[in-house]
Amino acid sequence: MSNRYTITAALPYTNGPIHIGHLAGVYVPADIYARYLRLIGKDVAFICGSDEHGVPITIKAKKEGVTPQDVVDKYHAIIKQSFEDFGISFDNYSRTSAKIHHDTASEFFKTLYDKHEFVEEVTEQLYDEEAKQFLADRFVIGTCPKCGYEEAYGDQCENCGTSHNATDLINPKSAITGNTPTLKETKHWFLPLNKHEDFLREWILKGHKKDWKPNVYGQCKSWIDDGLRPRAVTRDLDWGIPVPVEGGEGKVLYVWFDAPIGYISATKEWAEREGKNWEDYWKDENTKLVHFIGKDNIVFHCIIFPSMLKAEGSYILPDNVPANEFLNLEGNKLSTSKNWAVWLHEYLEDFPEKQDALRYALIANAPETKDNDFTWKDFQARNNNELVAIFGNFINRVAVLTNKYYDGEVPEPSEFTKIDEDTLTAVKAYPAVIASSIERYRFREASQELMNLARLGNKYLADEEPWKKVKDDPERVKTIMFVALQIASALAILSEPLLPFTSNKLKSILNSDGNSWEEVATKDILLPSGHKLQEGKAELLFKPIEEKDIQAQLDKLEASKKANEAANATVEPQKDTITFDDFTKLDIRVGTILEAEKMPKAKKLLVLKVDTGIDVRTIVSGIAESYKAEDVIGKKVTVLVNLAPRALRGVESEGMILMTETPEGQLVFVNPDNSVETSNGLKIS
Ligand code: MF3
Ligand code: ZN
Repeated sequence: MSNRYTITAALPYTNGPIHIGHLAGVYVPADIYARYLRLIGKDVAFICGSDEHGVPITIKAKKEGVTPQDVVDKYHAIIKQSFEDFGISFDNYSRTSAKIHHDTASEFFKTLYDKHEFVEEVTEQLYDEEAKQFLADRFVIGTCPKCGYEEAYGDQCENCGTSHNATDLINPKSAITGNTPTLKETKHWFLPLNKHEDFLREWILKGHKKDWKPNVYGQCKSWIDDGLRPRAVTRDLDWGIPVPVEGGEGKVLYVWFDAPIGYISATKEWAEREGKNWEDYWKDENTKLVHFIGKDNIVFHCIIFPSMLKAEGSYILPDNVPANEFLNLEGNKLSTSKNWAVWLHEYLEDFPEKQDALRYALIANAPETKDNDFTWKDFQARNNNELVAIFGNFINRVAVLTNKYYDGEVPEPSEFTKIDEDTLTAVKAYPAVIASSIERYRFREASQELMNLARLGNKYLADEEPWKKVKDDPERVKTIMFVALQIASALAILSEPLLPFTSNKLKSILNSDGNSWEEVATKDILLPSGHKLQEGKAELLFKPIEEKDIQAQLDKLEASKKANEAANATVEPQKDTITFDDFTKLDIRVGTILEAEKMPKAKKLLVLKVDTGIDVRTIVSGIAESYKAEDVIGKKVTVLVNLAPRALRGVESEGMILMTETPEGQLVFVNPDNSVETSNGLKIS
């Protein structure tokens, strides 16, 4: 095993706060991995920061009428604070607007430029004549050439994950004006991925990368097999890092060129602060580089960034890129723009001190091999049925009984039975089991193994029933409680990577943090006889989550859904102008519905008998999805009476009921004043 690790977590875009999808996919797994490695004594640099360039940020700024800098300052602060409060243990959380990053990225570009690693080319790019601007990346939306998804972005399709050039999109439209773009010539620098194809094939497909997750390996293979093409690494935009070479005026580095270099600049910033040598973490063959990302980032971390590093020549390449699939929320795709999310900073306000409850729910249900769904009910069940009922219950029994029987002191055991011996041996196996899960990036499995250790403790107490034996066999009870305290002590250490707040709390309950991961596997006694637990009544490790708190979250989501529906209700464009004469041809009157029945075998149709004041006539109306027949009888409605009769499913319809549509798509009557029975037709005044 390597001794030095550089662990990166995808730099979040600062166009919105962090939500549970980001946490489950990237930050919680990365944090577990980093905490575990530190715990077993490795030299770890756990690196992240804000990704502050790119088109989504300028779009957001435009929408809000502020500058891109305002947007990134706002979200950088929110994101950084929420990560800290949630216990994500970055060694450095930097940002790509930092000077050290601008310098590092510029220098990286210049090095490749000087080494002739770029192809310089004038090509035709999409241009919005009205906005007077080239349309890079997310400024253009169109149909994905690979999967046919109609809302693919210029640089990537979020449906199938393919990354492409904006000019590949079918039917492109400007995201700024909605116009169809024209083509205009402009010069850019391209990274010739085709030149690196052989190396990538060798390194990923033939190399030892077979231990990469199947989703990651599979995506890489498909890209390489499809043939790689040059990718532009500069853009005609004004937000980003200026292209530092001649002819680069008015252009910036492509965000996906600068952002991964952010891992390097953030490491430099940290090393300067800590008096370390950053190159040890990026240029030493013995250092293991691991990128934690979501599945939409695979191509950038497995193909493009390694090609950049390889072209530069002095860097190590990632040892693994454990990308996760996506997490959904209550059955729907998480979405920043639709506010369909559980925002970390809001969660922390609503559930203060419950960081580990969320960590546990996310990790126990992590989207490791397929997309998964987060539901508030499941969150509550994970907390109440597992953390509280198993882990918490065990610790509470141990602490309460030790206080009660021995005044908080670890008792002297007498002879161990076979069950005691087996139990203590079983405990010793857990560090290796959990370590193996974590080292293979199987964090779900690790969380279940940790819970199994708590289960073991619970079962041991339930089987041995010290509370029943304490009167008649006090010596036996001392042994039982001694064994139980060793299990509690193991839990305090082994829970550190997965549930760091719990681990700290448990260490203070036990008044001990003296053991290492290794010692849990090797030492016979973790908590010696005579050791005193924390004074006073032991606090509860976990508290149940109540129904009303879950309901409040569900209500919040419901409100979000409603707001979205209202915002997304499309307003039909105005029809062609008609003349006043056209209008006066319409004979519109108020009528009363006398009878109504459903048209057989027709989902939408009701057959109505309507008193128009002139006569009683049959009108077939397509309102059955909005009204039941029995509910419309007696209703006064507005009727167009001189519409040419028309047969619908063999029933002659003589007129039309006027309806309007709500934003939710429900048809409602254009109702006259209720006092009006029938009318003499529309009066124009
Ligand atoms: N900001 C990107 C995203 O949220 C991730 C950037 S990762 C880095 O999808 F490698 F570029 F830093
Ligand atoms: Zn696609």
